[in-house]
Amino acid sequence: MHPPGMFDLKGRVALVTGAGQGIGAGIAAHLAAGGARVLVNDVVAEKAAQAAHAIVEAGHSAEPLPFDVTDLAGVLAALSGRAIDIVVNNAGNAGAQPMQPRPFREMDPALWKGPIDVNLNGVMHTTHAVLAGMCERRFGRLITIASGAGVVGLPIGVAPYGAAKAAGISFMRHMAIENAAFGVTANSLALGLMEMADVQDEALVARMARSIPCGRLGTGADIGPACVWLASDEAEWVTGQTIHVNGGSLTS
Ligand SMILES: NC(=O)c1ccc[n+]([C@@H]2O[C@H](COP(=O)([O-])OP(=O)(O)OC[C@H]3O[C@@H](n4cnc5c(N)ncnc54)[C@H](O)[C@@H]3O)[C@@H](O)[C@H]2O)c1
Repeated sequence: MHPPGMFDLKGRVALVTGAGQGIGAGIAAHLAAGGARVLVNDVVAEKAAQAAHAIVEAGHSAEPLPFDVTDLAGVLAALSGRAIDIVVNNAGNAGAQPMQPRPFREMDPALWKGPIDVNLNGVMHTTHAVLAGMCERRFGRLITIASGAGVVGLPIGVAPYGAAKAAGISFMRHMAIENAAFGVTANSLALGLMEMADVQDEALVARMARSIPCGRLGTGADIGPACVWLASDEAEWVTGQTIHVNGGSLTS
């Protein structure tokens, strides 16, 4: 998936949250193909097991590690005693519940909690669990999967989600500065419109694809290689950045 000798993740342990399907599964597969042993997290244990199994079937190293990133005690219990080198905070959207987009003026406050919990608290929970170990070992890679919605305003009814993604981006910037001297980098990938497991409407997909300069929606195969690069030794001088991976869509 990349030139031999470059971006080699052999000997690294990577955690990918929400990796039971979609983009996270693609990221996990690419990190594993790059040589990392991948801990495949999902709140749905069966999905984590299936995605880890697919990686192992492909000849790479993976292990399912189900937990809910919004539950700090559960995160700490699952990760304690593990030396984790790379974390990709991918669990997102509205968390375990489906996203319910609507204009903020019409939004029930109960709908704010899911996006904030998973996209901000979830990222802080995993970081809290792994950061001290990374600093002690003088190597760490924190990567947060953000969104264009965390960078610009959009008319699609996702204000709390956008605010939470912006918070995740800001948190990565602070982690980058606080931990730069310890060999730990922290970056965000701001994604554009991606293929979604639960969107099957072909006309809608075609309309969305036409709005993207590259002419198609993104997939895990577009995001995985970016994570491999950010996770690599070669990316040690890249930190505190928000990198847009979006097929050329405007972001400002
Ligand atoms: N799909 C898009 O168009 C798009 C665009 C920009 C950014 N993103 C971001 O990309 C990431 C992946 O998106 P996707 O569309 O592949 O997601 P998805 O909804 O298809 O899959 C997310 C996975 O995360 C799991 N999950 C949900 N809550 C969890 C929790 N609390 N703890 C652990 N696992 C949990 C789900 O069970 C699911 O398997 C998210 O952070 C999302 O916000 C997506």
